[in-house]
Amino acid sequence: MDPVRNPFAPGAGSPPPELAGRDALLEACRIALARIRLGRPAKSLLMVGLRGVGKTVLLDRMRIESEAAGCETVRLEAPEGRSLPAILAPELRVALLKLSNRERAKKLARRALRALAGFARSLKVKYEDIEVGFDFEPEAGLADNGSLDQDLPVLLQAAGEAAKAGDTALVLFIDELQYVPEDQLAALITALHRSAQRQLPVTLVGAGLPSLRGQTGRAKSYAERLFEFPEVGPLDEASALLAIRKPIRAEGADIERAASERIVAETRGYPYFLQEWGQHAWAAAEKSPIHVADVKRASITAIAALDASFFRVRFDRLTPAEKRYLRAMADLGPGPHRSGDIAEVLERQVTSLGPLRSQLISKGMIWSPAHGDTAFTVPLFDEFMQRVMPGKDWKKE
Ligand SMILES: Nc1ncnc2c1ncn2[C@@H]1O[C@H](COP(=O)(O)OP(=O)(O)OP(=O)(O)O)[C@@H](O)[C@H]1O
Ligand SMILES: [Mg+2]
Repeated sequence: MDPVRNPFAPGAGSPPPELAGRDALLEACRIALARIRLGRPAKSLLMVGLRGVGKTVLLDRMRIESEAAGCETVRLEAPEGRSLPAILAPELRVALLKLSNRERAKKLARRALRALAGFARSLKVKYEDIEVGFDFEPEAGLADNGSLDQDLPVLLQAAGEAAKAGDTALVLFIDELQYVPEDQLAALITALHRSAQRQLPVTLVGAGLPSLRGQTGRAKSYAERLFEFPEVGPLDEASALLAIRKPIRAEGADIERAASERIVAETRGYPYFLQEWGQHAWAAAEKSPIHVADVKRASITAIAALDASFFRVRFDRLTPAEKRYLRAMADLGPGPHRSGDIAEVLERQVTSLGPLRSQLISKGMIWSPAHGDTAFTVPLFDEFMQRVMPGKDWKKE
């Protein structure tokens, strides 16, 4: 079939041809933002899920829809190793400059830009990576204490007042939120809490690994009351079938029922894998409709492609000891696994493996669904680890 017309889009953050099975979440977001804009209480959405389930594309879609509804938005991705104030400041500046173009918001948006100048200047001592243009001189005493805990709430409040005056809402979309260090996350939660108490139209829509839920709870005990944690998971069968069938039909081609069912079974409905299989099934088929035999051939190339990209990029960031830990987990199956069982495979004491486990959690490779339990954050990673470190020799390496 024509490779030029292949509709599938495997890739981190690549918008899928059909965003299947997420209507309820999009609707929940729409309602929450509309309420916040009216000064009504609504919980912020923090979407949690494993790697490749479609958190980023969902967040981007929510952002596009909220902009179309008239919200001002800020889009951030928390990278490992950079501070929240550093990534927030330049993006917030853009949003405030846009707000200042709204006649009714102008005065308060300028005040918020002054707050931003004070914020950035005074926090520069602690967070050296802050780089932001100054449009106005700081106002003495406005968000310039030099403490994130105190200054971020004042800054967001100033921004919220501007948004309110402009008859809009300011929405922070933050991806990979689990990488924000706990003290900075705590300051962000305090700031959102303060704005909510004042009924200001400022909110957060976030996404992260499942560990995010515990992290926010540890950062602020009242976080549960402020946030909803909808789980983004694999697609149910009907949505997964749709994710495959609809894009193919939109190109004037077709796929046999049994062939699309086989894709759903092989991918377990995981969105990233659906895109990969869809792409390879299209490529494997001579002509429409796509048959089961095409999918069988596609499975081989799709897995090889995943091994070379989706799984590989994660694997390459691991130290040899980390690889052995994950390989030991893979020995036990998909998981979750007890720390004691993993230690047993490695013939080590549980306590001696604690630091390694923590390291893997902070790298976002594993998480702890319950005390003492460890699970992969990447779906089907156990099978990949078995492929890439086969046999028994890995124990000796
Ligand atoms: N609802 C969906 N239907 C079909 N395909 C989807 C859906 N959501 C995401 N995808 C596809 O899945 C892949 C992964 O999406 P995305 O990068 O948003 O996942 P993620 O959860 O952010 O992953 P990571 O945790 O690695 O950042 C992309 O190729 C995207 O096109
Ligand atoms: Mg993502």
